[in-house]
Amino acid sequence: MADARELLDAGERLGPEELRTLQLERLRNSLRHAYERVPFYRESFDKAGIRPEDCRSLEDLARFPFTTKADLRENYPFGMFAVPRERIRRLHASSGTTGRPTVVGYTENDLSMWADMVARSIRAAGGRPGDVVHVAYGYGLFTGGLGAHYGAERLGCTVVPASGGMTARQVQLIQDLEPAVIMVTPSYMLTLLDEFERQGVDPRTTSLRVGIFGAEPWTEQMRREIEERFAIDAVDIYGLSEVVGPGVAQECVETKDGLTVWEDHFYPEVIDPVTGEVLPEGERGELVFTSLTKEAMPIVRYRTRDLTRLLPGTARVFRRMEKISGRSDDLVILRGVNLFPTQIEEIVLRTPGVAPHFQLRLTRTGRMDSLTVRAEARAGATPEVREAAARSIVTAVKNGIGVSVDVEIVEPESLERSVGKIRRIVDLRPRDTGQG
Ligand code: DLL
Repeated sequence: MADARELLDAGERLGPEELRTLQLERLRNSLRHAYERVPFYRESFDKAGIRPEDCRSLEDLARFPFTTKADLRENYPFGMFAVPRERIRRLHASSGTTGRPTVVGYTENDLSMWADMVARSIRAAGGRPGDVVHVAYGYGLFTGGLGAHYGAERLGCTVVPASGGMTARQVQLIQDLEPAVIMVTPSYMLTLLDEFERQGVDPRTTSLRVGIFGAEPWTEQMRREIEERFAIDAVDIYGLSEVVGPGVAQECVETKDGLTVWEDHFYPEVIDPVTGEVLPEGERGELVFTSLTKEAMPIVRYRTRDLTRLLPGTARVFRRMEKISGRSDDLVILRGVNLFPTQIEEIVLRTPGVAPHFQLRLTRTGRMDSLTVRAEARAGATPEVREAAARSIVTAVKNGIGVSVDVEIVEPESLERSVGKIRRIVDLRPRDTGQG
């Protein structure tokens, strides 16, 4: 189903030249806003010897300094705000696994722009005004629930604010309220799948038409698994609280070829994570975002630590980004070999006899790190099938990634289930052993 052009909003209808002109104008305003209102940016621009007016083309952005998570932490809670606190209508925060959380703020206009971008995302995913949208992203300080919620309302949908958890009731609600769209993490969708089966309900028979999955990395194999088991279209949504929340980029259902970046509001670059150089389109590196229209918390060249590459637009005038392969934080370096959980996901999901549930355990004996892939057997898988599965995962990891791992096939339903973002890596290595 190609999107009829009249369904697109004004930003999506821009021509390529018009888009660039708009981006440059917005970028210059945003740099000025940040420099004039946020001491952190004034200092960091001054230190780099650059002024907002030095930005005369989109390429000039590369001359400006980066912003990192550490910068946001140091300015906790309100130091990055460019407007008086009284103009902030809402705060969100990211959990922060180490140390202080980071707080983000939104003015009324920011909240409205965000709702517009999520509405645009849901429409690109195939949602339409009048659809019932089941939101199972967590509500609260996490941006997933409320972000999805206001976007669905903005599009003209009927929202079911289910939030995460109480899985049995979610299945009941899906049967009774007949949503066309579900918005949830892919890992929690699998938890829902188990629950459908436990209740003896065929997940292919629900009213669901589209699933909008994000907040964590997931693979093409996972897309196929979810699409087949639920008989829906599964599309990817990306975002991060520092930039706005969900709705920074969205996969279009008619192409399913990576995520269209809503770059009339969020300007992307991909850099070499070591040198900081901007990489040409098509090359893989770290994704960096600059907000073009945010008032409360303009963000300049924020290093997301997410790894991907930029690609030309297809379904829209905007560029696309490839599905995120992982975060640099989740990179496991095992005896010199780099490995992301998504690479293991691809292998586990194509192995017969195992369920799409797995966990990676890192241990250390002496100076030697080991990785154990724990994958769950499918119900009814015989001991022979399980053994063959274990052998096949060992071989696939060795041949595909180039490192030896242990594989443990565990009982069905024995691994912890996700109610939100899943934690794939369990690191049991002793801390600070001085081995570097
Ligand atoms: O996870 C916002 C969000 C909510 C996005 C709901 C999509 C759906 P944070 O909690 O700040 O915000 O976490 C942001 O999550 O830097 C990525 O590492 C990861 N992430 C988000 N979406 C995707 C995705 C929300 N589609 C961090 N694929 C980001 C892979 C994703 N990783």
